Amino acid sequence: MSIKIQPEAIASLRGFEMPERLGFGTVMAPVMFRARFQDGRWSDGELLPYGPLALDPAAKVLHYAQSCFEGLKAYRYGDEGIGLFRPERNAARMAHSAQRLCMPPVPESLFMDAVNVVVAHCAGLVPGNSGESLYVRPFLMGTQPDLSVTASRAYEFYVIASPSEAYHPGNMRLWVEREDSRAAVGGTGDAKVGGNYAASLQSISRLKARGYDQSLWLNPGNRHTVDELSGMNFFAVMDGALHTPALNGSILEGVTRESLLTLARDAGLEVHERAIDIDDLLQLVASGTCTEAFACGTAAIVSPISELGDGEQRYRLAQAPGPVAMQLRTALLDIQEGRAEDRFGWMHLV
Ligand code: COI
Repeated sequence: MSIKIQPEAIASLRGFEMPERLGFGTVMAPVMFRARFQDGRWSDGELLPYGPLALDPAAKVLHYAQSCFEGLKAYRYGDEGIGLFRPERNAARMAHSAQRLCMPPVPESLFMDAVNVVVAHCAGLVPGNSGESLYVRPFLMGTQPDLSVTASRAYEFYVIASPSEAYHPGNMRLWVEREDSRAAVGGTGDAKVGGNYAASLQSISRLKARGYDQSLWLNPGNRHTVDELSGMNFFAVMDGALHTPALNGSILEGVTRESLLTLARDAGLEVHERAIDIDDLLQLVASGTCTEAFACGTAAIVSPISELGDGEQRYRLAQAPGPVAMQLRTALLDIQEGRAEDRFGWMHLV
């Protein structure tokens, strides 16, 4: 596939000024990639200036949420330039999400070319402080104007990017969500689709009013084992061993989750992927057997958890941040930012 670089995209890059404070996902790079799918084939790609999209008001995505997305990061990689972290895992997960919603999977080569062209043109926008990066957001949506509940025949694939800090710097307080579910049994919990995030918003607004930061979602089938947070996976340390919910069809298979498990095993930690009963977990926190907990994700990196709230009860973690969270965070960032040898072949230089 060839990619047409619009002169206006280059001009918009020249005029871009990086703000002093980044936050997460609010500063947008001034270019974006687009490819279209029509009549069973993908068009060539284009690098365009960042800007509003023209969508027919009857486009399927606006009514039936036929869309999926990804999140990955580009880092300043030592003296060698810019490094992307495991982009092929995001390409594979996006293909899985697309298939779940009856969308044509974006071929891995198109995904990689699109991410590469955006990141290469935005190299000057990759922030240099540790923990900061260029957050890259590919997304795919059904654009056919037609109100029948059938799969779209037309799609658009975009890649936008945002120079960002970590999603949730500092400790987090989690609220055990016992009422709502984030995803259904047999639903889209293991696909990265906007509907899962929309379903989490009511819980987030309730918990914010109670002084918490994030929901801890329970499995929608049994309502008593831990699944994940709204945009992060969950880990706990018990008697020195690392525990995380096993993949079960309603948990998103996080790239950071899998990378931390690899790093933990490599460091000789005992690791358990298993069903974690929420009431057992809360008791183990109360008794001091569970000393630390943390969440992880591409956007969040590793975020320590200081408290679990369940109704009126509060359960404080003894260590936040705890040593295991900090050890794994450092090991991960050292690879991503080029301070440690890339022993697992995770980094792709742009
Ligand atoms: C990511 O970590 O890339 C995510 O998608 C979380 C995001 C929804 C904030």
